[in-house]
Amino acid sequence: MNDILPDEAVLWERFEDLIRSWLASYGYRNLRTPLLEHTALFRRAIGEATDIVEKEMYSFVDELNGEHLTLRPEGTAAAVRAVVQHSMLYNGPQRLWYMGPMFRHERPQKGRYRQFHQVGVEALGFAGPDIDAELLLMCARLWDDLGLQHIRLQLNSLGSSEERAKHREALVAYLKSRESELDEDSRRRLHTNPLRVLDSKNPAMQTLIAEAPKLLDYLGAESMAHFEGVQRVLKDAGIEYEINPRLVRGLDYYNLTVFEWVTDRLGAQGTVCAGGRYDGLIAEIGGKPAPAAGFAMGIERLLALLCESGENAADWLQPTPQDVYIVHQGEQAGRLAFTVAEALRSLGFTVTQHCGGGSFKSQMKKADGSGAHIAVVIGDDEAAAHEVSVKPLREERGQWRVSVEQLPEAITDLLYGEQGE
Ligand code: HAM
Repeated sequence: MNDILPDEAVLWERFEDLIRSWLASYGYRNLRTPLLEHTALFRRAIGEATDIVEKEMYSFVDELNGEHLTLRPEGTAAAVRAVVQHSMLYNGPQRLWYMGPMFRHERPQKGRYRQFHQVGVEALGFAGPDIDAELLLMCARLWDDLGLQHIRLQLNSLGSSEERAKHREALVAYLKSRESELDEDSRRRLHTNPLRVLDSKNPAMQTLIAEAPKLLDYLGAESMAHFEGVQRVLKDAGIEYEINPRLVRGLDYYNLTVFEWVTDRLGAQGTVCAGGRYDGLIAEIGGKPAPAAGFAMGIERLLALLCESGENAADWLQPTPQDVYIVHQGEQAGRLAFTVAEALRSLGFTVTQHCGGGSFKSQMKKADGSGAHIAVVIGDDEAAAHEVSVKPLREERGQWRVSVEQLPEAITDLLYGEQGE
């Protein structure tokens, strides 16, 4: 779990600003749910035989009332819970998003943390492949807006539950026939969640996995039509993708389209964004059956990629300098400093007012070190005349006096060039 210190938080804030306008441009609305939910919600939504539920949840019993609670390991379950609880689908389909911390007790390493942050996007109440495609187009646009390269789209279809059941039967028979070659994890999964065997990263298992029955071969006409519908839009939009029949995802709620955006620039934790369709989840959580799809991206991973290979990586980390730093000495000057600072802020300028006293020289050093464009200097002399001195900090130029009334114009001229010239 990381502290994000101000030098780095600049990058986070810029990213968050961009995220908000990107989501607004597609008509998605913000949903904010609590960090805690009943443990049963996640067990039900994500699935008992998943890594998250088996070993990664921060769960505890609330000593005050005996409730079993869990720090959210992901956002989809909570979003669906809220949509069902507030009957939001009665008003028609919903395009929603959230952003915030998620918690998984994983083995920490580069790109994998126990508290990490996601931006999640959920479209609920839409059945067709058009919304799956919209979600993918959105992602592609965001990578573009961020100046990110080296991200590839992997796509698969998990079909319907009947199709998965047929495939599962064939898969289990196949895995049993080669049980002696399975590693310990896979042998256990053979009985709990055989599809996840295909997700194994163990090099010794790769040939066995490559030869396993493929789910795509078990898809019926309707599932294929949906999958092709998604791909048609991607082709029209010129978005490259790769079909990865082994892409199964680590959460149980998916059906039909699943996808991951991956990069080879971040080592082992290369999935920056992932999601898919989850048509059964709303009913599973107790709502009237309705289709849905969505995705979530890992902010830490995306920002790491941005710093590593983004087009304008350095710009993202540049602090935004203040317009003005106010330097002052003497009682009357100190009082005028407050009035001037508030007046400038009312006009929209950003202002740091020196606090804590000190000589003019030491205050000017602070002003310079702050990165501000302009120092406004007030001594008792100036204060008595209802004037201030203006000193540009980023150009070779002496200071001069202006009346308090003329100050905003002088600052505007310095920041944006002389008006009318
Ligand atoms: P997920 O694949 O578990 O899906 O997580 C989505 C993304 O969160 C990952 O691709 C990764 O970028 C990031 N992430 C996950 N775990 C960690 C971690 N320990 N440290 C850093 N980043 C991490 C979901 O969470 C689904 N709720 C996505 C979804 C939304 N599907 C439909 N709607």
